[in-house]
Amino acid sequence: MKKSCLLNNKLIKTITSIFLFQIMSCSSIDGEVSKLVSSMTLEEKIGQMTQVDYRYLADKADIGKYFLGSILSGGGSTPPTNQPSSWVDLYNSFQGEALKTRLKIPLIYGIDAVHGHNNVLGATMFPHNIGLGCANDKALVQEIAAATAAEVKATGLDWTFAPCVAVAQDERWGRTYESFSEDSEIVTELGVASTIGYQGRTLNKNSVLACAKHFVGDGNTVFGTGTNWYKIDRGDVVLDEEELRSKYIKPFKESIKMGVGSIMVSYNSWKGKKLHGHKYLINDVLKKELKFDGIVVSDWAGINELDKDYKTCIIQSINAGIDMNMVPGSLNPDDNSYDDFIRLAIESVKEGSIPMERIDDAVSRILKIKKKLGLFDKPIKAPKNTDVVGSKKHRDLARKSVRKSLVLLKNKGDILPLNKDSGKITLVGEHADNIGYQSGGWTIHWQGGSGDITPGTTILDAFKSAVADSNSIHYSKYGENLLNPDVVVVAVGEKPYSEGVGDRESLHLSDEDIKLLKK
Ligand code: BGC
Ligand code: BGC
Repeated sequence: MKKSCLLNNKLIKTITSIFLFQIMSCSSIDGEVSKLVSSMTLEEKIGQMTQVDYRYLADKADIGKYFLGSILSGGGSTPPTNQPSSWVDLYNSFQGEALKTRLKIPLIYGIDAVHGHNNVLGATMFPHNIGLGCANDKALVQEIAAATAAEVKATGLDWTFAPCVAVAQDERWGRTYESFSEDSEIVTELGVASTIGYQGRTLNKNSVLACAKHFVGDGNTVFGTGTNWYKIDRGDVVLDEEELRSKYIKPFKESIKMGVGSIMVSYNSWKGKKLHGHKYLINDVLKKELKFDGIVVSDWAGINELDKDYKTCIIQSINAGIDMNMVPGSLNPDDNSYDDFIRLAIESVKEGSIPMERIDDAVSRILKIKKKLGLFDKPIKAPKNTDVVGSKKHRDLARKSVRKSLVLLKNKGDILPLNKDSGKITLVGEHADNIGYQSGGWTIHWQGGSGDITPGTTILDAFKSAVADSNSIHYSKYGENLLNPDVVVVAVGEKPYSEGVGDRESLHLSDEDIKLLKK
């Protein structure tokens, strides 16, 4: 009894000191950041709020010239040699530029590691969120996010634009596969598990910064209201506030409680008003009411959709509460780029259209996250642990998660599972031997691709090793020469896409697929 009391006392003391340490380190970060912010010029502050895709950097010296706060790699924005050590080199060369500036504020580098570190050749690709929603296993999702974070870290990067906590309602939406579920409870649970996997329980030097996205309502836009040529993506949400809160804001609310360090604003609108300029939802609800104290980041050129006049877009979005603007730049000289964003934002502050307190709030949030991630202490990354990228351990986890995410709709006559005694098997269809198709969008390229875009096990490879001896499996890509099999397996499905490019009017199989099945 006495002993357990003593133990408990010890435990309480330890917990108290961890707690005190956290409070102290938070307040010391607050102090350091406010001192730093007060020493910054307006140019340095606006630069800090600017995020550029590395492909659109006209010159890497622009990082220092404009005091850029962040670089990102959008889908497919990879170094010329896409291997882990080249990512570390790319990171360090940009960081080196940031460190040449007067205040030596390090950059933060973000990427869409949304189903594994999916832009990196040879990285482990995990099922997209819709598959993980089918598995509905929190521990598994957390483990996958932690494995992804380890691969992201190994390439030197700091920030992933994940998890997507959209609650998809209309399956015809091109981002349905990025959503865990149509059920807000499942999305909330798995979204939170994923954030813990990326960041750990608190944001620290071992974390990869997570980003709950897209705030808010992107899974519930009305068909036909999408911006540009998109049908559903970037559309309008017409829900009343109660439902918006209970189903769509909920995953963000719970992620904030778990310490998610960044939140990305959605392209969609709510009752006709675009989220990128929505002061009530961003400033009043997200920041004030839900007490989100991390970084609110815009989506890719998301502010541009607010108005025809770019300066108006900048004023509205910053005043609404956006802290970091994913500009992201452009190769087209007629488009707005980061120099335009910076020039016009500075002008807007000088003429009083954006209050300095708003700028200071944005910059403080960004710097606090950088401090917590330890970027000031260790801005340059050593190319170690790159073996973790695509490691056997992670591939085994991916295989397990694929197995758990499969959905069996019907098994008439108990034909499944197939095994080595199933006789002669003919496997049919392009999808049966195509890693690109099998991996979907956001794999190496933004829209995904076809064929051997990254190493992996195709369905055919798996059949050869697990179900049949190589001599009893026959592959027929287009359904020709079936060779009198005992069993035919036909692989049909969608070709990869991402975002609004995948918006569809109907969910029917393609004519090609139907023809193949009939054959
Ligand atoms: C997408 C985001 C993504 C960003 C950066 C946008 O088009 O909507 O989900 O994180 O691009 O690639
Ligand atoms: C980028 C993506 C981004 C998209 C937005 C692409 O060029 O690579 O990351 O989401 O543009 O339209």
